[in-house]
Amino acid sequence: MWTYWNPVQISFGSGSFDQLSERLGARNYMLVTYPDVFAAQLGAQIAVKAGPPVLVIDDIAPNPDMAALERQIARVKALATAPEVIIALGGGSVIDSAKVFAAAARSGFAAVKSHLCEKPATDQFSPLPIIAVPTTAGTGSEVTSWATVWDSAAGKKYSLALPGLYPEAAIVDPALMVSKPRDLTVSTGLDAFSHALESIWNHHATPVSRMYAVAAAREIMSVLPRLAENLNDLELRARMAQAALFAGMAFSMTKTAIAHSISYPITLNHGVIHGIACSFTLPAIARSLEGINSPAGTALQEALGARPGSEAADRLEAFLSTLNVSTAPGDYGIDNEGMEALVSSAFEGERGKNYVGQQAALIKSLRSAR
Ligand SMILES: NC(=O)c1ccc[n+]([C@@H]2O[C@H](COP(=O)([O-])OP(=O)(O)OC[C@H]3O[C@@H](n4cnc5c(N)ncnc54)[C@H](O)[C@@H]3O)[C@@H](O)[C@H]2O)c1
Ligand SMILES: [Fe+2]
Repeated sequence: MWTYWNPVQISFGSGSFDQLSERLGARNYMLVTYPDVFAAQLGAQIAVKAGPPVLVIDDIAPNPDMAALERQIARVKALATAPEVIIALGGGSVIDSAKVFAAAARSGFAAVKSHLCEKPATDQFSPLPIIAVPTTAGTGSEVTSWATVWDSAAGKKYSLALPGLYPEAAIVDPALMVSKPRDLTVSTGLDAFSHALESIWNHHATPVSRMYAVAAAREIMSVLPRLAENLNDLELRARMAQAALFAGMAFSMTKTAIAHSISYPITLNHGVIHGIACSFTLPAIARSLEGINSPAGTALQEALGARPGSEAADRLEAFLSTLNVSTAPGDYGIDNEGMEALVSSAFEGERGKNYVGQQAALIKSLRSAR
């Protein structure tokens, strides 16, 4: 038995950004974006067609932090009336920030904060609608109902997950991604790749999530190495954007699993960018799934073109090495003991519990790779 539910209206394709004002209609809006020239130019294009926004929050930094979000939401609360829609123009940090603002606009930031820290009921929220316009091909946040919130002061990572946070619409225009430099193209692409694999080795996988995940993983392995060498190739950008979207649709059902659970302290404590932190462990994880006899094993084999175990690990090592991504924890400042401690605590985390594999097998796999 399985269900599938994803209510986001998706427009995909080069030039789809032009449909934004039509999707917005006569509603007033607030724009959330980055503090750079590219974002300002796109914001100006929106304003020409849709009129000026009631508020612009354009100081979104990578990895939305609790303290910054609290300051930013105060600007929304200072408006006489809340905007009718939030346009999130940017990558995961922008879309996730917009989700926090959407939840806090009516209920207040204190309610969001206590929900994040103590997990009380979700029915107190009635989030504002969001139109998500991703400028990275990675997080899939445009089709998920959750946001990652970082608290660097407390050394913690939270997930704001509310059914009302699915964006109303996602406008995925690969032409907006051509400006991504190589490192960002690779790290965001690997984030999407990790979402695909994480939704396969996941207790919540369904035939539909597996279908999206297998298609996404195969496509990313084929496209990303070529895209990394041809950053201006719009066709490869489009294929990567679609694959990241499919990975998003897969893990919108399952959430992520052990690789993401391991990654959060690595980002918080070692400053490793999300897409690398959640993907350099994929070969070790695939090796630890040797002999897995389930739909997850079959899907993994279809995705990687290699049997779970050392064959899949070798395939993944080769893929990451083409992208110049190391799989050695030491290269990220983590010693052997530290890595094993991270893995043990990752199994205790909410995402770690989604994973179908075993802790002992993963530790053994990491040791064998040394
Ligand atoms: N909600 C989810 O489902 C989900 C899933 C995975 C990751 N995340 C979160 O998303 C965040 C990462 O998002 P991200 O990887 O999309 O990056 P990002 O939004 O953090 O942006 C990283 C950098 O890329 C730049 N950038 C973005 N688009 C660009 C473009 N088109 N051209 C040039 N530069 C551009 C930005 O200015 C920024 O400096 C993390 O906080 C992560 O935890 C959320
Ligand atoms: Fe991710």
